[in-house]
Amino acid sequence: MTDDTVSPVVFRSLQRPSDESIQQFYRAMGTCWQPVLRSADLVADGVAGEETCETANFGANAMRSVTLLDKPLVIARLDGKLTALLDVCRHFQARLSLGEITSVNGQAAIQCPYHGWAYAPDGQCVRIPQLAADRRIPETVSVPTFQVTEALGLIWVCMADEPVFDIPLFDEFHQSTFRITTLDEQTLTHTSSPRMIMATLDDTHFPWVHEGILGTRDQPQAPDHTVTRDGSTLKVSYTTEQPASLASGATAGDHPVTIHYDNSVHMPNVIKLKKTTPTGRYIIWLATCPVDYCHTRCFWTFARDYDTDPSHDAAYESFSAHVRSQDKPIIESQQPWLLPPFWTKIELPQAGIDEPLIQYQRWLQELGVVIDV
Ligand code: FES
Ligand SMILES: [Fe+2]
Repeated sequence: MTDDTVSPVVFRSLQRPSDESIQQFYRAMGTCWQPVLRSADLVADGVAGEETCETANFGANAMRSVTLLDKPLVIARLDGKLTALLDVCRHFQARLSLGEITSVNGQAAIQCPYHGWAYAPDGQCVRIPQLAADRRIPETVSVPTFQVTEALGLIWVCMADEPVFDIPLFDEFHQSTFRITTLDEQTLTHTSSPRMIMATLDDTHFPWVHEGILGTRDQPQAPDHTVTRDGSTLKVSYTTEQPASLASGATAGDHPVTIHYDNSVHMPNVIKLKKTTPTGRYIIWLATCPVDYCHTRCFWTFARDYDTDPSHDAAYESFSAHVRSQDKPIIESQQPWLLPPFWTKIELPQAGIDEPLIQYQRWLQELGVVIDV
């Protein structure tokens, strides 16, 4: 097919988003709490991840580099206190995370690998080794810091002074009746965070992508969705039937299982699917980190209040990984990676059938996450 036989709409969909769309995406997502790292991965002996990182530690100190919204950050625990700094030295812009944690006046600080300048948790430069002893370091010598906190086993960063929404609640995570497992992916997903959330919210793909597991192709009809907004959350509920599986509370049998879904998207980047089955409740929780406009890091957590024997965890983990492996290549094939606004008519969402996705995307547009210029 040559270019002139491709419809303008389809052709447009293959193009890279404009720089302004990308920057607007970063601005809007920057006003929200974003998960950047598992707390367990910021540890004294370090855990090598996909991204370049160096970890240097003593006592309650550790640091790790991450990328959020195309910005390099160093996440550090200094004397037990969490901090997030721009991973760029004020001197000649070397990566601070390649350095080490040192002690200045008895307090932990991050030391740049290049000339040894050291920064306190508030970003202030507290040591310039080359400076004469009687010279003070000007207060202007500092690197930007960002709000950072820990919740739900993750470290979250917000680049704005006032996050538009709080960090989501996940009650079952704290309840002893639920057994928790996670899925740690070693690679990023080549898509935007909103597309990743949409793909998890979408239910009409079940019979196609997960045939025999979450649906069957002889029953492709969409369930009756109820879609509402509640504060910072888009709520979607429906009842459907699925084949027997670990995630439907039945491991065998020819009869489909009736499942009620209560889904919630904590705008714009976290989603929870709560399945109530005759056996119990199975929860899929996904927090997405927008590494940049077309790369997303996925933090998956699962909770179940049946079959809670820890020795069965491996079977559930392998089930989740299998379902995920069915979704990933399809999600990564969707272009443009940033969602196009409705008016472009690049997408053809179906009223009713795709109502949860339509409502999510509409809210994204209101938040300024999706624009087109
Ligand atoms: S670049 Fe960091 S101390 Fe020189
Ligand atoms: Fe799926």
